[in-house]
Amino acid sequence: MLLQLDRLPWGHCLDEYNRMFSLNESDRELAILDCACGTASFNAEMTRLGNKVISCDPYYYQRTPVEIDALIQEAYHTVIDFPRELYAYGGNNYFESEEHLANVRRNATLEFLEDFPSGLQQGRYVTAELPVLPFDDGQFDLALCSHFLFTYPHSSENFPLEAITEMCRVAREVRVFPLLDRFGGISEHLNPIRTILNRSFHVEPRTEVNYEFQKGGNKMLRVSKKSSA
Ligand SMILES: C[S@@+](CC[C@H](N)C(=O)[O-])C[C@H]1O[C@@H](n2cnc3c(N)ncnc32)[C@H](O)[C@@H]1O
Repeated sequence: MLLQLDRLPWGHCLDEYNRMFSLNESDRELAILDCACGTASFNAEMTRLGNKVISCDPYYYQRTPVEIDALIQEAYHTVIDFPRELYAYGGNNYFESEEHLANVRRNATLEFLEDFPSGLQQGRYVTAELPVLPFDDGQFDLALCSHFLFTYPHSSENFPLEAITEMCRVAREVRVFPLLDRFGGISEHLNPIRTILNRSFHVEPRTEVNYEFQKGGNKMLRVSKKSSA
């Protein structure tokens, strides 16, 4: 059976987001959009700290928390076993053990589940599917996208470019992590996208970050509006 890896409910936690996107104190105070948030606990943890995050994802928000919980249970072994087969944790500089990995994933998804009903009511979780976002131009300071755009194959070749361009419409700056596909190679989309984005935006294609799980996967893409002369 083919796994729908882009739909697996495995979430990263705030500490991982801080490292994947090199978020410092002043970044965390910005108005942030987390695209393709899945069951990450970023929104839950940031809200608890008094920060402002809106998260969007097309799938989970059409399900009840009980259904999401069932999906998480179902996906659990895949989440732990699949990376073991693929990467053997080759470049990992974060997890001390498989048990540590399992605990971080479990805690992140549990935090998400606990926060989801109130976050939904408060409009912090929004159903939205890239490459079209239901937000105003420039509504956010920063848009983040973790483990989606370059990680998985998409229905159209243009999807990553369209998605990043849309994120640039709603946010002043966009950060995408990682730049590798799920088999550990640099995404074939990266260079063509960089060339096109360069025409309209300021692009830092491979900014090193202090988080590595896939070997060599410690880089993010940063795209921001060109400052007017
Ligand atoms: C591997 S998860 C990453 C979750 C989260 N960003 C994290 O790092 O913990 C990928 C997510 O992409 C979402 N997704 C799939 N298609 C999407 C689309 N067209 N637009 C936005 N999100 C999408 C899936 O529902 C899933 O939650």
